[in-house]
Amino acid sequence: MDSMEINKGMAAVLVAGIVFFLTGWIGVTLVDEKRLEKPAIAIQGAPAADASSGAPKPVELPPIAPLLAKADVAAGESTAKKLCTSCHTFTEGGKAGVGPNLYGVVGGPHAHMEGFNYTAGMKAKTGPWTFDELNEWLHKPSAYVPGTRMAFAGISNDQQRADVIDYLHSLSHTPVPLPAP
Ligand code: HEC
Repeated sequence: MDSMEINKGMAAVLVAGIVFFLTGWIGVTLVDEKRLEKPAIAIQGAPAADASSGAPKPVELPPIAPLLAKADVAAGESTAKKLCTSCHTFTEGGKAGVGPNLYGVVGGPHAHMEGFNYTAGMKAKTGPWTFDELNEWLHKPSAYVPGTRMAFAGISNDQQRADVIDYLHSLSHTPVPLPAP
């Protein structure tokens, strides 16, 4: 192979590279890549996509007040005993386990137990625990406090969740008033 042929080969590679680069650039310039504002095909029952980010919107939970109005404290207590006692105590002055003691948590501040090692995400939450916030939290802890150490998937049944919140609400000498339905 003489040097002329090697040169031709190298030129071919170079030209191919330039053509490859140019076609890519022309493609990007010609095609205006924009997201559709609405999905082209709406799927019934699917959560609507957020136009700006493309992320699904958080699930809208039904209002907690009417569910609390017909909540059953005893049912809530038995659900809590089943699902929560592996990590929580509910008695006044009860010890922390994997999770904090929960006496007086409703209406108390987020991260309400003195001395418990809460996650940064939980400590960053300000203000007292409201019924709505507890509703969201117990529906899906990892959505309410990303990175939480409460390794619990959540209670998906709306009334069952309200029953548990009603039980938590009873754990106080002076329970905060229930929201008006
Ligand atoms: C696997 C252990 C575990 C289970 C099961 C669990 N939790 Fe928790 N829980 C935690 C931990 C750990 C935290 C602290 C979370 C943090 O700091 O992010 C917590 C925090 C909480 C808080 C916030 C307390 C505060 O002081 O702000 C509430 C309310 C709560 N849990 C309720 C419940 C209820 C009700 C159940 C049952 C339906 C439950 N948890 C099941 C471990 C658990």
